[in-house]
Amino acid sequence: MVKVSVMTTKNIKILAIETSCDETAAAVIGENPSDDGGQPVILSNVISSSVDLHAKTGGIVPEVASRAQMETIVPVISEALISSRFKVQGSRSLNYQEAIKLLDDITHIAVTAGPGLIGSLLVGFSAAKTLAYARDLPIIPINHIEGHVYSAFGGEFPISNFQFPMLALTVSGGHTMLVLMKDHGRYEVVGQTIDDAVGEAYDKVARLLGLGYPGGPQISKLAERFRNQFSIFNFQFSNNSQNSKFKIQNSAKIVFPRPIMKDGTFNFSFSGLKTAVLIRVKKIMAENNFEKAEDIDSGTKEEICAAFEEAVADVLAHKTAKAIEKYQPKSVIFAGGVSANQYLVEKLRTKVEELKPDIQFFTPTREMSGDNAAMIGLAAYYHIRRGDIADWRSIHVDANLKLV
Ligand code: KG4
Ligand code: ZN
Repeated sequence: MVKVSVMTTKNIKILAIETSCDETAAAVIGENPSDDGGQPVILSNVISSSVDLHAKTGGIVPEVASRAQMETIVPVISEALISSRFKVQGSRSLNYQEAIKLLDDITHIAVTAGPGLIGSLLVGFSAAKTLAYARDLPIIPINHIEGHVYSAFGGEFPISNFQFPMLALTVSGGHTMLVLMKDHGRYEVVGQTIDDAVGEAYDKVARLLGLGYPGGPQISKLAERFRNQFSIFNFQFSNNSQNSKFKIQNSAKIVFPRPIMKDGTFNFSFSGLKTAVLIRVKKIMAENNFEKAEDIDSGTKEEICAAFEEAVADVLAHKTAKAIEKYQPKSVIFAGGVSANQYLVEKLRTKVEELKPDIQFFTPTREMSGDNAAMIGLAAYYHIRRGDIADWRSIHVDANLKLV
């Protein structure tokens, strides 16, 4: 075990816990002194996922997720404490006594209070409340979506580089939201999905194509394959085939709808897109007498995935562009589990830069795009700086917690 020297100060040191879905996560956020009174710094970020269990059932079974949380919560918290000090990870090196001693340095507990699966949320929430009670520490309940917004602050740029107002597009398995952030803690939800979240649509489309769970990475892999095949022809998908720089027979015949893209609101709808994919898949199966979607050839599946992803990219980019025109933000954030998708990131970045070349565009690092506790701790840091802290007796968990 390699020891690293750590300054012992009275600076803020937050133990953050996130268990809203199928990840059990804990992190320690410290503070570096700076001119404006301090900068948060991620000292550890430990994530244990039960995704493999859900892959077997093709989706999350809430009770399976919460049972996995129960099993991993104590080791994950302990590992976050230990690796914040000793920079080692891995349960083999876990020393629970050492972890308990490290709790002495913690000044605040932060925890996801919702939205999410109630059984999962309760595991982290109960652990956080117990720690706050036992160590007599203030606690900060954090909205999961606020956490995703702050995940973009965990990258290589100092947080002071981010300029307000910011426009944050947060896209996950559970939510799709455009949020205007006027300052730390000041949010206005300008648009959100009226039915399925983007990640949910990816997962459902993957399921109906007979691909595994989670669907996002599977679909983006197949879509990428399709695009790579045609990139040598400078091929572009388009709603309007006249715009295609190159027309290839037997390719890109599939175009899916862009639901409510031009309805003048900043809301999203993805369930119609998923249904359009379902209708297309059923048609292909009927025409070929296939019994199951797995029988569809890989080239067609790749094309369906690429056409689906293109529709998602268009809608996200169009709505974000419209919101930029209206709200004139100085920076744009694209965060949430779906922001792991590099194609969507590049489509958005290009759209944003075309519109406003001087705008700052931020996405989380790969490690922080999915659910994690460092983002919860970063959000909590700014609550603490505003004096917005609570007592363990007064906080509540809420599966449908609203951002504002
Ligand atoms: O933020 P997250 O880890 O959990 C929620 O808060 O929901 O997001 C999980 C979602 C899943 O629906 C997953 O399919 C999607 O993010 N996802 C992706 C990609 N990687 C994960 N979606 C599209 N492309 C990806 N590469
Ligand atoms: Zn999430």
